[in-house]
Amino acid sequence: MKIIEEIGQVKAEVQIARSKGRRIALVPTMGALHAGHVELIREARRRSDTVILSIFVNPTQFAPGEDFDSYPRTLETDIKACRAEGVDIIFTPIATELYPAGFSTIIDVGEIGRRLCGASRPGHFSGVATIVLKLLNITEPDLAIFGKKDFQQLSIIEQMVRDLNKGVEVVGVETVRELDGLAMSSRNSYLNEAERSCASALPRALGAASELFNSGVRDSSSVVAAARKVLDAESLIDVEYIKICEVRSLEELETIDKKAVLALAVKLPGARLIDNVELY
Ligand code: PAF
Repeated sequence: MKIIEEIGQVKAEVQIARSKGRRIALVPTMGALHAGHVELIREARRRSDTVILSIFVNPTQFAPGEDFDSYPRTLETDIKACRAEGVDIIFTPIATELYPAGFSTIIDVGEIGRRLCGASRPGHFSGVATIVLKLLNITEPDLAIFGKKDFQQLSIIEQMVRDLNKGVEVVGVETVRELDGLAMSSRNSYLNEAERSCASALPRALGAASELFNSGVRDSSSVVAAARKVLDAESLIDVEYIKICEVRSLEELETIDKKAVLALAVKLPGARLIDNVELY
C-alpha cells in the first residue's frame, strides 16, 4: 500500500494502473474511518482492481464555527484499517496544494444543494461538490463510492456527475449501523453517554416512519409525524428537520407517490446528526 501526498505522484500511479488495464475505484473520506468506511472499501474492492482512498478534512465544506478544528484526525489507525482491507493507495493531499493562494472556483449544484441540510449549512454542498470534483479529476476513477448515510451528498454528487458529463460511475453503499441502529458516523464520538443513549431514537424514528409507510400510508405529513413523535420524546434531541423527498431531485413530496427518502437532522448538545430511510 502506498501513502501519497502529492497530486503529481498520485496521477503518475493512476497512469501506471491504467496502462495495466486496471479498473480504478475512489473512496473519498475525511478519515476517522469506522465500519461504515470499511464497507465502502469492500465495495470498492469487489468492483475494481485498484482502490484509492483519499483522506482530507476539507475546509471548504465547514462553515465558520463548525467543527473543522475538532474533527477527529486518526491517520495512524486509518492507515492500519486501509492496510487490513487491501487499499492500494491512500491519498492524503496537502491543503495548500489543493487550495493554493488565489484558488477561486466553486461548484454550485443549484437548488438540490439548498434543500434539507443545505438550508442550515449554506455553502456546505458547494464545498463538498468542489472537493469531490477535484478528487475525481486528480484520480480519474472508473467508479467512486459514497455512503447512503449522507443521502443528500450522494444525490448531489450524482447530479454533478450527470450535469458535468464526468463519466464516472457513482456507487451508493448502505448505511452501517451500531447494535442499537445508530448510523455509524465519525461525529458519534462527540456524544457523551446520555446523548449516545438518546441517539438511538433516530433509528427508532426511521423505523416508526417506515412501518407506517409499509402499512400503506402515503401521506407525507402522517409519516413525518410518526418519526417526530419518537424524537420529541427525547429531551436532549432538538429536531432540525424531518422531510420526505423524491430520491433524485430531493424535492419535497406531499404524497409519497414516487421513490422517496425520509431524511432527518437533529441537534444534540454535543453533535448534529443526520440519518435517512428510503421509502419504496
Ligand atoms: O463524506 C465525506 O466524508 C466528505 O463529505 C467527502 C465526500 C469526503 C468530501 O469531503
